[in-house]
Amino acid sequence: MLQSKNFEWFKHKTVYQIWPRSFCDSNGDGIGDLQGIIAKLGYLEQLGIEVIWLSPVYRSPMDDMGYDIADYFNIDPLFGSNADMNELIAQAKTHNISIIMDLVVNHTSDEHPWFIEAKKGLDNPYRNYYIWHDPVNGGAPTEQRSFFMPSAWTLDEASGQYYYHLFSNRQPDLNWDNPQILEEVYKIMNFWLERGVAGFRMDVIELIGKVPLEGKYTSPRGHELLKLIYQHTLANYPETLSVGETGGANVQDAILYSGGHDELDMIFGFEHFTLDEVAGQSKWHLKDFDLVSFKQVFKKWQQGLHSRGWNSLFISSHDAPRPVSRWGDAGKFRVESAKMLANTLHFMQGTPYIYQGEEIGMTNYTFSQVSEFRDIEMINFYNEHLHKTEWGPERIMQSINSKGRDNARTPVQWSADENAGFSSVEPWINLNPNFHEVNVAQALGDPNSIWYFYQKLIKLRKELPIIIHGDFELISPEHPAIFAYVRKFEAQELYVISNFSALCQHVELNANWQAAELLTANYPRELPFNGVFDLGAFESLAFLLRN
Ligand code: NOJ
Repeated sequence: MLQSKNFEWFKHKTVYQIWPRSFCDSNGDGIGDLQGIIAKLGYLEQLGIEVIWLSPVYRSPMDDMGYDIADYFNIDPLFGSNADMNELIAQAKTHNISIIMDLVVNHTSDEHPWFIEAKKGLDNPYRNYYIWHDPVNGGAPTEQRSFFMPSAWTLDEASGQYYYHLFSNRQPDLNWDNPQILEEVYKIMNFWLERGVAGFRMDVIELIGKVPLEGKYTSPRGHELLKLIYQHTLANYPETLSVGETGGANVQDAILYSGGHDELDMIFGFEHFTLDEVAGQSKWHLKDFDLVSFKQVFKKWQQGLHSRGWNSLFISSHDAPRPVSRWGDAGKFRVESAKMLANTLHFMQGTPYIYQGEEIGMTNYTFSQVSEFRDIEMINFYNEHLHKTEWGPERIMQSINSKGRDNARTPVQWSADENAGFSSVEPWINLNPNFHEVNVAQALGDPNSIWYFYQKLIKLRKELPIIIHGDFELISPEHPAIFAYVRKFEAQELYVISNFSALCQHVELNANWQAAELLTANYPRELPFNGVFDLGAFESLAFLLRN
């Protein structure tokens, strides 16, 4: 490992996730591309972004929108070329932006040459790159479900064996018990690191430690593999960032992943994303939001990783509904609630991730028919449940409109122009019809927009060490509508108070308010405070006591 490895370089930076297909279309085919991203680097710099997480752009049949890779070394022609990728990396640098790529190595596409070879027969040298098993009692080897299908096993007619896939049957899982897979992954990562990317977001990386025949998603082996990966790749570059998608991890796991600087820098834990689903059921089994549990989850992670690891902070991604629709108010209080959610999150400890369109408060799309769906998870859920008595079309559509991934995958709304300024032609998926009111051009023209609020939050993180280093304590943890916390660092105290409801809320807090400096507020607010706050609908504010 390099002696001079810097583990701190990203700690005051904010990451922006680009899901390229819906970001910006430069060549008029209705699909976003790398040149479209290059054209918007100035925009991202203006927002204050210093790192981009780029969702997959590799060659792919797009069964799962690029999370099914057929060639790890080449850019899919839909998005551009390797020359475009080199240009993106170089141009981003001139805007002080680093790029991390998505690394999807739990599985490949069924069109990857390894899988095409592997299918040729039991003796093929690539057979052992994947997970195969003979039928058991004439059927699948285990009862395990895949995330997208009723079974994690699909029969390969030619050989009579089943292969294993935790996602679609066009995404066969790699066999991580085969040491050759590690060698292949080192090659892939070093190829892109040598070309100047700063690191990786590692897709469902905890699953590389799975034990298929026992139905276990993870095992200690996952940590051993990540240590090897780190040593052979990221450890040899001075400034890297790696974030592992580990949906099922708890705080103890997160400390193992991120605390030792020898596996990952941080992980995405999904505990706060699962609170609106019935425990033990699928994401489609909806449950009412409960702020008290939501606060407890943040407290657990903030306190649990303080000085022991590092959090990632996110309320949005290409896999989740839009946060204003989920936890705020997508109607009358859209602007207030979008700022409130951002304010609540961005003063916590960790690295914030903003998903494209979040910075203008984009909302969920309302789907009325299956022909509008593009996402394999939504389509498969619909088809599998349509004729189940406890579901039926109405309940399915309710779940789709609350939790479906395509909600967050509609094109970025750049302007009120035709096709929302995203493309010169009709996009690959419907636009959210509210683009006439909700768009970047509008936001940039309004000093009170959500956009400028995000810009301020990103800037404050670079200026105030308390955001990076302070501890975390909830205030009134049992309050059903107020999310309030205080962070302390040296002599300073940072307070954040947010109203998660449309009703006014009365709050009284004791502190040395004479010393208070207002940092952010989504309603006009004046100093000095007297400690009594009557908060309006979705009101949120943050203030610093320098003491
Ligand atoms: C997680 C990705 O974020 C999601 O979009 C994808 O479908 C699965 N992993 C499978 O790669």
